[in-house]
Amino acid sequence: MRAVVAAGTGGPEVLSVGEVADPTPGPGEVVVDVVATAVNRADTLQRQGFYPPPPGASEVIGLECSGRVSALGEGVEGWSVGDEVCALLAGGGYAERVAVPVGQVMPVPSGVSLVEAAALPEVAATVWSNVFMTAHLAKGERFLVHGGAGGIGTMAIQLAAARGAEVYATGGSPEKLELCRTLGATRAISYRDEDFVEVLEEAGGADVVLDNMGAKYLGRNVAALATGGRLVIIGMQGGAKGELDINALLRKRASVTATSLRARPRDEKAAICCGVVENVWPLVSSGQVRPIVENTMPLEDVARAHALMDEGGHSGKIVLTL
Ligand SMILES: NC(=O)c1ccc[n+]([C@@H]2O[C@H](COP(=O)([O-])OP(=O)(O)OC[C@H]3O[C@@H](n4cnc5c(N)ncnc54)[C@H](OP(=O)(O)O)[C@@H]3O)[C@@H](O)[C@H]2O)c1
Repeated sequence: MRAVVAAGTGGPEVLSVGEVADPTPGPGEVVVDVVATAVNRADTLQRQGFYPPPPGASEVIGLECSGRVSALGEGVEGWSVGDEVCALLAGGGYAERVAVPVGQVMPVPSGVSLVEAAALPEVAATVWSNVFMTAHLAKGERFLVHGGAGGIGTMAIQLAAARGAEVYATGGSPEKLELCRTLGATRAISYRDEDFVEVLEEAGGADVVLDNMGAKYLGRNVAALATGGRLVIIGMQGGAKGELDINALLRKRASVTATSLRARPRDEKAAICCGVVENVWPLVSSGQVRPIVENTMPLEDVARAHALMDEGGHSGKIVLTL
């Protein structure tokens, strides 16, 4: 089958479309004929050699896809050949076909095209699991998301606003800040010209912070928390090792959590996908939460798609079609 192959590790130019062996479905897996996949920041790290696939996962990059079920492994129930689906993957999405554990296969929400559906699994599962299952963001609480105009950020703003939270989002340019407001942020904060700690302190503190920056923002994120606040770290764009002021955490009775979706066992991913289908898909079907896809390009343009993400000029998701 056609798939994205890498000529070593490095810049976007190492990626091209080549030939690899077809996947076969193991017990409890289905094969999906991929119609579209989407680019995640983690894919750019894998390309550079910093984020190897977990044991047993495909060497092909790609954490999500949409398409049609084309084969069923032993013991699979509930899906038929030809069903239109989207799926959360541990890898292998940048290819014509991918084998997926059945618990990570989800229906396409109504009102969304099969191509757009490729942009949903990774961001929906990440935001649902971290902001709602782990940090329990509740109606009326104040929520801060960093990088509100990115893939994760555009989902986080919409989902938190749809569930009744007051949303604050950071962004790097006037266009990105405007997008954050359009998607439901009450206050968009320039991370270049403003101090998000000051803004949040003035508002009474954030009950939940979803952070992509890691070390660089650790102290300031704790400072921005309200009493009882929950900081959830999902990215290390600003480094992995920081200093934590435990006294500040004690005084606020606050918590810091960090998770990685890709490394979680299959049963946890299945539980997260169940939660997404139950809680997020109805909001997508009603139009309250939309896939934000700014760029759609053919799989052959994978190097251009990665260059776009490396430059950071994109908003929302970049989708690759097959
Ligand atoms: N742990 C997990 O399970 C998991 C799962 C998925 C994603 N992630 C992580 O989540 C993050 C976002 O992923 P993505 O795929 O959505 O990538 P993305 O679309 O490239 O988004 C990256 C975001 O980082 C923002 N950013 C850059 N510098 C910043 C700064 N100084 N302060 C605040 N924000 C800044 C960008 O904002 P501007 O564009 O406005 O500059 C952009 O919105 C990545 O770190 C990724 O590794 C983690």
